[in-house]
Amino acid sequence: MNGVAQDGYYPGLEGVISSQTAISNIVERDGAGVLEYRGYRIEDLASRVGYEEAAFLLLHGDLPTRLQLGDFNERLRAARDLPGPLIRVLGELPGSASPMDVLRTSVSLLAHDDPDRDAAATDHAANVRKAERLIARMATAIAYRERLASGLAPIPPDDRLGHAANFLRMVTGEVPSEAMRRAFDGSLVLYAEHELNASTFAARVTVSTLSDLHSGIVAAVGTLKGTLHGGANEEAWKLLEAVGSPGRAEAWVAGALARHERLMGFGHRVYKKSDPRAVILKEYCREIAAEKGDDRWERIAEPIEVAVGRKGLPPNVDWPSARLYHYLGIPLRLYTPIFAMARVAGWAAHAIEQIDHNRLLRPRGRYIGPTHRGVSEIDRR
Ligand code: ACO
Repeated sequence: MNGVAQDGYYPGLEGVISSQTAISNIVERDGAGVLEYRGYRIEDLASRVGYEEAAFLLLHGDLPTRLQLGDFNERLRAARDLPGPLIRVLGELPGSASPMDVLRTSVSLLAHDDPDRDAAATDHAANVRKAERLIARMATAIAYRERLASGLAPIPPDDRLGHAANFLRMVTGEVPSEAMRRAFDGSLVLYAEHELNASTFAARVTVSTLSDLHSGIVAAVGTLKGTLHGGANEEAWKLLEAVGSPGRAEAWVAGALARHERLMGFGHRVYKKSDPRAVILKEYCREIAAEKGDDRWERIAEPIEVAVGRKGLPPNVDWPSARLYHYLGIPLRLYTPIFAMARVAGWAAHAIEQIDHNRLLRPRGRYIGPTHRGVSEIDRR
């Protein structure tokens, strides 16, 4: 039944249009994937705007003017510090807790300290303010917890740095080079939004009951965690390491496919030919590998891509992002949380769009179980 529609039943909801959206559009044109955020091509955005501008675009509908961007940056920077209860919990959760689980708990706790916590679920302006604060605070929470989990002192946010550079400094302790900042910033822009993917859909379903924005984002974080979705970027790195050398790629891929294993970082529900985000990120990988003077992982990645490509599976965004984050000195366990801290802009934009034009999301199931059964006495079952 893999993906084949029957009488209104679409396994995995494949091809089903559940919502109208003005936030992003994905199409395949002339054999290549095309992605636009609010009508702007992702290639233009990735090369010309930083994460803050992309997030403003997603939340507010247009690219910001210089003045609007200045105000937005000020609001984000003012919101970076974490509330006391969250700081305490980040110190108390078991060291073995997965960073995605910690992030899910963090978002839930942030709801209690949000100044708009008592606003109506349908209050558009309050929801935008909540979203802006989540963008700022999720990044701080991820970095703060990572430092604690590594036995290091947390590094406070630096108001002189933008979102990308500040996060890298809070994690690694060092201000990144301009090339590294640009590559990381670019990856955040590329991860920021992607139409009705599983986690965004989860957020929309949650708020379609007129639940609050934070509940929608909690649902989205939990959904992103899985390895078929955001968790794939950590698995993609493990795949690269397992292959280990360019000469092993061909046989390794053939073996994995023969065993019907999923090759993480490849394939996509919508992009069947190419994921434009992966194409852009691959260039960043090459640049940063060259800056570091070590192209080992590029040389291993290439023959894997060729071998998997022969099976008709193009790399998705998680494939190059895994090695990019490795080059940037980011611990493996943060790859998926970074996806979340970027995607929160898209999640929130979708949740707000859902609430503003709401109709409860409630599909049907097709019943395939037994029917007409009689209830017998408990001793006779
Ligand atoms: N490795 C091996 N085989 C694959 C892969 C893969 N990565 N992706 C798809 N296939 C195969 C399936 O086994 C299936 O083969 P079959 O028809 O012989 O059974 C066929 O391609 C179709 O696969 P489906 O699972 O039906 O396709 P779907 O649209 O559901 O898959 C998905 C999309 C889940 C992303 C899939 O490609 C996959 O599992 N990829 C690996 C995980 C991954 O990288 N996820 C990140 C996605 S992008 C993102 O979330 C940012």
